[in-house]
Amino acid sequence: MVKAIESLRAANREEEQLLGQIDPQRLPRHVAVIMDGNGRWAQRRHLPRIAGHRAGVKAAREIIETSARMKISALTLYAFSVENWRRPKTEVDFLMRLLREYLRKELPVIHRNNIRLLVIGRPEQLPEAVNRDIEHAMRTTAGNTGMKLVVALNYGARAELVDAFNRILEHIRHNGLSHAHVDEQTISDHLYTAGLPDPDLLIRTSGEMRISNFLLWQIAYAEIYVTETLWPDFHRARFFEALIDFQKRDRRFGGLSAAAQSGEEASPEAVGASAHGRARH
Ligand code: FPP
Repeated sequence: MVKAIESLRAANREEEQLLGQIDPQRLPRHVAVIMDGNGRWAQRRHLPRIAGHRAGVKAAREIIETSARMKISALTLYAFSVENWRRPKTEVDFLMRLLREYLRKELPVIHRNNIRLLVIGRPEQLPEAVNRDIEHAMRTTAGNTGMKLVVALNYGARAELVDAFNRILEHIRHNGLSHAHVDEQTISDHLYTAGLPDPDLLIRTSGEMRISNFLLWQIAYAEIYVTETLWPDFHRARFFEALIDFQKRDRRFGGLSAAAQSGEEASPEAVGASAHGRARH
């Protein structure tokens, strides 16, 4: 029987039953989430899109708290992409206001829970007030040693790679390194996510089978979990289902499973053990 995850109390029978299936020793180190479906959630209820975003913040709060209690090292949430500027100005303005409201209300809770807030993207292009609040939140939580809550804001993976390459070039020029050599580590070290483990699990809600310019480099070996559930309905039990699904995967990183290597039939135990043993992190 798997030991219950400390400091996490199931709120009902369903959560209890799901939680019992999760092995706390084999949780992903880094979970990244494409939170999709706020608009459709609102539309189905004949509500304005912004009501969907408000409900989306509630869902985000629940997943952040749950991940922190489960001692997941990093949780990255795709909150605003470089493409999202194409939305109507009223919606963009609302999203910015919502973000400020979230930071104002939740910062004390985040800080109290030893969570460190980080932002990835090009925040300098966000409204000044948003940027100020982000800076303040990052500074306040800079010394926290618990979960890293990474919010992707004005984020695009291609833009991230462009920024990384330009920073590498700048370094080469500045130091007159005519024989410089770039390897995978050099690129990783110049991404916005430098220092974070790559995501082990990428969750996308609302059923779309797309990556949408999110963490293209970092998800090279991530397990992808797509659910039809719309983001505002992605409660704790749905998150547990994603983790259970993740723990059933046989992560091979291009190699063979232990069972295949030894020429034996893979028993569920052997597959579970190999998935864990091979994790790079
Ligand atoms: C997708 O729904 C969601 C977004 C555009 C991002 C906004 C996310 C939130 C408000 C959640 C809160 C996050 C934090 C970090 C507090 P959509 O509008 O694309 O939905 P649709 O595809 O159904 O139209």
